[in-house]
Amino acid sequence: NTLWLVVPAAGQGRRMGADKPKQYLTLNNQPILAHTLARLHAAFPQARLVLCLDSDDRWFDPTWVPFAQWQRVSGGAERMHSVLNALQAMTAEGSDLVMVHDVARPCITRDDLHALYQAAQTHSGGALLAMPVADTMKRDNGDQLSQITEPRDGLWHALTPQSFRYSLLRHALEQAQQTGTVVTDEASAVEALGEAPRLVSGRRDNLKVTHPDDLALAAAILAAQSA
Ligand code: C5P
Repeated sequence: NTLWLVVPAAGQGRRMGADKPKQYLTLNNQPILAHTLARLHAAFPQARLVLCLDSDDRWFDPTWVPFAQWQRVSGGAERMHSVLNALQAMTAEGSDLVMVHDVARPCITRDDLHALYQAAQTHSGGALLAMPVADTMKRDNGDQLSQITEPRDGLWHALTPQSFRYSLLRHALEQAQQTGTVVTDEASAVEALGEAPRLVSGRRDNLKVTHPDDLALAAAILAAQSA
């Protein structure tokens, strides 16, 4: 079966406050997008890539794509619509595995990618990389006053990649779209169908580059991993 990689990269990255979308900011002389694609290619050189880019994107350079087989699709209003566009544009078999990975996570390692792939292949509900919550969790009422302490037992951070059979993932996201639900990851859409994706404990340094402070951190992580 073919492995399909879907990389949503159509976001504006507003929280970064930079003059271009964060995936085009440079870490150690390479744009974040190029780092992310290089990591994915190192783990899965034969995979097929579907890259979601904003239709008005002025920064993308196709020489950053190391895959032999790849296609570009337009982004949608939210991340889930970008991923749906990819699923609807590609010519996958229902039983093919699809792995969705945010472009904003360039520090993903080969070991985590391979562990997730194994789990997704053997678990019918699919799988996601995740990390047990380490901090004590507080809830406010929108007033920045600590009202409730949520028990952290059994709480995980959902990371990417997340991987599912093509038929399951497409059905799940189309269902979410039809009910007007905006999901922020694939696993939530799959859970809504009554499936329980496998949580695969991933590395803590699989950082999502979001705020300006994250740039130096991601650069240091990349340098340390390749040392
Ligand atoms: O902004 P945030 O980091 O949460 O976005 C997660 C991922 O989804 C990023 O890789 C971003 O480029 C992508 N995205 C997208 N289409 C959108 C919004 C976000 O592909 N409409």
